[in-house]
Amino acid sequence: MAEANPDPLRHDPEYDITPQSAVPVASGCPVMHQAKAGYYTLFRHADVSSALRDHDLWTSVNGPGPLFAEPELLFFLIGVDPPQHTEERRLVSKSFTPSAVAWTGARTEELVTELLDGLVAKGEGDFIEDVARIIPLYGFAWLIGAPTTDIPLLREWAINVAEGVWPDMEPETMERVMAGFSGTMEYALRLVAERKAALDCGDPVPDDLTTTLVKAGVPDNQIAFAYVPLISASTHTTTWMMGNLIYRLLTNPDQMALLRANPNLAEAAIEESLRYDPPVRGFFRTNTKPTTVHGLEMDVNTKLWPSLMAANHDPEEWDDPERFDITRPLNKLRKHYSFGHGVHYCLGAPIARIEAQIVLRHVLERLPNLRLAGEPTVQRYCRAGMGFDHLPVAWDPPADLHLDDAPSFATARP
Ligand code: HEM
Repeated sequence: MAEANPDPLRHDPEYDITPQSAVPVASGCPVMHQAKAGYYTLFRHADVSSALRDHDLWTSVNGPGPLFAEPELLFFLIGVDPPQHTEERRLVSKSFTPSAVAWTGARTEELVTELLDGLVAKGEGDFIEDVARIIPLYGFAWLIGAPTTDIPLLREWAINVAEGVWPDMEPETMERVMAGFSGTMEYALRLVAERKAALDCGDPVPDDLTTTLVKAGVPDNQIAFAYVPLISASTHTTTWMMGNLIYRLLTNPDQMALLRANPNLAEAAIEESLRYDPPVRGFFRTNTKPTTVHGLEMDVNTKLWPSLMAANHDPEEWDDPERFDITRPLNKLRKHYSFGHGVHYCLGAPIARIEAQIVLRHVLERLPNLRLAGEPTVQRYCRAGMGFDHLPVAWDPPADLHLDDAPSFATARP
């Protein structure tokens, strides 16, 4: 009989694609050839760091997964190198300024309040489906100016697109991936057309990413290409981060007790969770010329996977890396690689962080005695990602609140 799995985020036997922590580094193996799939994995913090900084050698243009992306799918921003990348990043940065993040934070505060109003009396739920899945989908809809009534559609496409990062190439998978790509692109094109029509008529338009890109004269199909990776990059990542954070705190009661006693540790808890369980294990790069890494010769166009997970657990860089410890110094913690490193460093990091802070605060304040209430399910649709699809939890509902008093659930919000 198979042994019980003590840590579902570490060793899922059906899903173990590569050693995930710094074990290979500790055993003197800084780079590994995944012979069947043909790519190499880098484990050491220093190597991951230099590969991600050297975008001339390690380009992003062949896509974030182990397969070579079709040249016509050259993704805006995430799939280009400088100088084009620099220009594209400048364009979209307006939607990620501190005031834009604060605006998202204020709306997230309302949304989380409303979500928990609908939950507290229930005493149990699925943290992923009831909370962590919903918030980043609203965040994406707000970012591009999509009506939140379209969230069920966006949710479906986001999953399909994420599956495309590292697909198993089965016909049904590829059909879903294509449905995600074309659904998102057609949706984006409609949104752009509506926005242009409103601008042409002089109607008021929201100050969102779509307006920014339209006003900057970015071609329609470029905007559509930008929204394909964005729908996925901004949603699951943040969902997994929230789930991983709550799971780690619930399975490390000493750390949860520390946090409850000192809520000022919330930020460190979020960063330590990101370090310990990176929601994105890593995105691929491809070399532009023959390269030798630790004595291994790699032909031009070799796919390389700089493992963010391993970099975050490298004992050369992190003291006792396998210990989940929310008292690590915050300025050190923020240097984890879970948001990447170098020119592609995650633009949405401040949004993800503020969403996590709001959720954590509300959960600690409003769901007393929060505990695990069943086996969590690890997500399977994106091999580059790490997080839960379901995280059953329970808490003590307030004695004076009954289910009938609870407002309707926030997914139905207009
Ligand atoms: C915890 C949540 C998140 C994690 C772990 C995460 C992780 C990452 C990582 C590792 C990269 C680097 C990709 C590379 O090096 O090729 C990245 C890039 C990016 N992320 Fe995030 N992300 C998160 C949330 C978000 C959110 C909420 C948004 C948008 C609202 C977002 C938008 C982007 C964009 C646009 C890029 C591309 C930046 C560039 O190429 O210059 N991410 N993210």
